[in-house]
Amino acid sequence: MTTTGFVPPPYPQDRLSELLATADRLPGGVIDCSVGTPVDPMPEVVRRAFVEALPQATGYPPSIGTPALRGAAAGWIERRFGVSLPAEQVRACVGTKEAVAGLPHLLALRDPTRDTVLYPAISYPTYAMGAVLAGLRAVPVPVDDRWRLDLGGVDAPDAERSLVLWLNDPANPTGAGSSPEEMRAAVAWARDRGIIVASDECYAEFTANDAGEPAPPVTAMVLADPALMSRSAPRRSRWPTASARSLPASDRAAPAATCGRGARPRHRTSSRARS
Ligand SMILES: Cc1ncc(COP(=O)(O)O)c(C=O)c1O
Repeated sequence: MTTTGFVPPPYPQDRLSELLATADRLPGGVIDCSVGTPVDPMPEVVRRAFVEALPQATGYPPSIGTPALRGAAAGWIERRFGVSLPAEQVRACVGTKEAVAGLPHLLALRDPTRDTVLYPAISYPTYAMGAVLAGLRAVPVPVDDRWRLDLGGVDAPDAERSLVLWLNDPANPTGAGSSPEEMRAAVAWARDRGIIVASDECYAEFTANDAGEPAPPVTAMVLADPALMSRSAPRRSRWPTASARSLPASDRAAPAATCGRGARPRHRTSSRARS
């Protein structure tokens, strides 16, 4: 007897390569506007740290992350966002991509009663892929004419079945960033429906207001519990080849991310974090 097992969907980048080849055959060829891959040189301080660390880099580090790494991530989160989080609530992950792709599966193990993943209709493809790989429904949330999530466009039955809502702020590929009020509204919408907020904030250092001026980043972490956010130090500082991302989780979301538990994140009031 033969059965048809799970057939993985095509890898999004492979689909893109085909489209690029097709477009390239048209007059003028492709204009590649992608910004996802850092092209600037790796900062000297990072290069030096790699070289100095290599001689001790035998053996496996704990998969949850070394205390030093987790403490460093928690420290940066506090300095940058004004969110105080015990280091035990920060986990290392191999890549943000791997965390995004794997999270729905872990969340579904914890709550098998919900089978839907909500994600921005125009977004990084791994949100939908993570749902598919977990055998869940991937339901896109429409975006409005400013590329902001239009949560009013989610059908009530889909919302009821939703396990997790992906936010991506500022968003890839649209560049749209939320005001603190918009972030608060999105988080409240999810919380009212018992939906976990997973906020991919890996571009949090690249924030601008509607006039294009630099603006402080917003984070779902100050507002939501359960919440998870993804942080990508290599993406921020131009060393994407290394694996040093972190997945900080609020108190109730922490067990889903792995197994650590600590105190609920506390919001330190600071003008930087609030504006
Ligand atoms: C929105 C978004 N999230 C996550 C990632 C993955 O980042 P990492 O390099 O940390 O895996 C990317 C990479 O393009 C991205 O654009």
